[in-house]
Amino acid sequence: MVASRLAKRLDYYHLDNYGDYYALATSADYPHEFQMMVNILTTNETYFFREPKHFEFFRDTILKPWRGDNFRVWSAASSTGEEAYSLAMVLAENLGMRNWEIFASDLSTRVLDIARQGVYLMDRLDHMDKRLLDKYCLKGVRSQEGFFRVDTKLRSRVKFDQVNLMNPLPPALGKFEVIFLRNVLIYFDQDTKKHVVERLAKALKPGGYFIISHSESLHRVTDQLQMIKPSIYRKP
Ligand SMILES: C[S@@+](CC[C@H](N)C(=O)[O-])C[C@H]1O[C@@H](n2cnc3c(N)ncnc32)[C@H](O)[C@@H]1O
Repeated sequence: MVASRLAKRLDYYHLDNYGDYYALATSADYPHEFQMMVNILTTNETYFFREPKHFEFFRDTILKPWRGDNFRVWSAASSTGEEAYSLAMVLAENLGMRNWEIFASDLSTRVLDIARQGVYLMDRLDHMDKRLLDKYCLKGVRSQEGFFRVDTKLRSRVKFDQVNLMNPLPPALGKFEVIFLRNVLIYFDQDTKKHVVERLAKALKPGGYFIISHSESLHRVTDQLQMIKPSIYRKP
């Protein structure tokens, strides 16, 4: 997979081996190539309301009883933004347009650019309620036919930025009521999972929720979070 994804960069630079490409990508003469390599190597599959049970839990168990000033959610491997905008729709439906914010981050600058635009193809909306589409999205016409854009009110509530989960967290990040870290731990080994999860757990408020994918588990990863049900954890 790595070889086939990077093959087009070797072609682009007329290189015949991966060692030479790696040397180029890490040299000061090509300052943008390392990020280009990262963008190509990451797997960014995502869609609106993926794993719908998480959004039901978010609405019914987390949001409904919540009383407070500013509800903060972090979509910590947001890819092209569908997860963050799905959360924004649920928040807008349940809290209105005040008192909440979403921070969404990824390692790939390519997907973050797409996320900030908030423009998506109409044909991958199997899990999205049509009512939410009509209420929070604008359908494209003429040259934009087949696409929709998340409306500006919602887009302005989601801040996208680059965060590498391997590194210390940005100092101004603050604390969150909920962190979604779905479908990214699968790419990490056990030690890396532990470091990433424990680092992110520090950014949760006490009582905050930590949500991973149904295909992932924190078994033997950390004892800092308590499992509420499979894939849903809580900070004591
Ligand atoms: C498969 S997508 C998951 C998107 C979304 N959370 C979902 O479940 O649909 C995984 C994302 O993790 C990002 N990623 C991989 N390694 C990362 C790292 N070290 N730091 C931040 N993001 C990373 C990738 O760029 C990719 O967009």
